[in-house]
Amino acid sequence: MVEFALPKNSRITGGKAWPKPAGVTETREFRVYRWNPDDGKNPSVDTYHVDINDCGPMVLDGLIWIKNHIDPTLTFRRSCREGVCGSCAMNIDGQNTLACTKSMHDVAAGGAVKVNPLPHQPVVKDLVPDLTNFYAQYASIEPWLKTTTPTPQKEWKQSHQDREKLDGLYECILCACCSTSCPSYWWNSERFLGPAALLQAFRFVADSRDGATEARLTALDDEDKLYRCHTIMNCTATCPKGLNPGQAIGQIKKMLATR
Ligand code: SF4
Ligand code: F3S
Ligand code: FES
Repeated sequence: MVEFALPKNSRITGGKAWPKPAGVTETREFRVYRWNPDDGKNPSVDTYHVDINDCGPMVLDGLIWIKNHIDPTLTFRRSCREGVCGSCAMNIDGQNTLACTKSMHDVAAGGAVKVNPLPHQPVVKDLVPDLTNFYAQYASIEPWLKTTTPTPQKEWKQSHQDREKLDGLYECILCACCSTSCPSYWWNSERFLGPAALLQAFRFVADSRDGATEARLTALDDEDKLYRCHTIMNCTATCPKGLNPGQAIGQIKKMLATR
């Protein structure tokens, strides 16, 4: 397993206030969490001013503008820029969301755009969280179809009704916004699977083509893995794809209670 250095002290101290770019008339202030594992310092918050007439409308556009024009050391993940890869998940103005689909205009009524890494995860650098545990939990639910019927010539068929049961589940992009918004996950992330892995677990439980439903349910029937969910519902409130992991967890609990 890759081990990352962690902030020795999570207390945020100071930060650099970068000057407004010369000759720019309209700017938007960004306050961005910074932490460098190599300099031995506490985390800090740097202040930047983004030229909004030279920049796209999304928070990710602002971060890219800062990196290109002010501070190339600013570190964050991004790939698709259209809300499908999940890599730009971060905490913006107090809410976990995707920086590439969050408009600057919808943040803080024109005030400072405050950007932090996803909460309660180790930090690799700046806005990049260490999601090693999150991905290991996803792997633990064995996210692939387990079929028991003979291999068909073309494909395992599914009725339209059965296919519809996967709506609201298959769209999950594993961004981790939900799990890192859940207080139960904050305090028990080594033992509680969290809403993202549990929604994915239900996606395979609910699939008519899967032949391992009972074994999957038995594996989930655990006071830590599943029942550390206390229906707080932060997960559903924050999901940037509009999914309902809290409901998926409720469905698993219901199936366990009635089987
Ligand atoms: Fe992200 Fe939503 Fe999937 Fe959670 S359920 S990982 S918030 S897409
Ligand atoms: Fe957490 Fe969502 Fe349950 S916020 S406690 S996983 S309903
Ligand atoms: Fe892919 Fe934001 S860059 S979801």
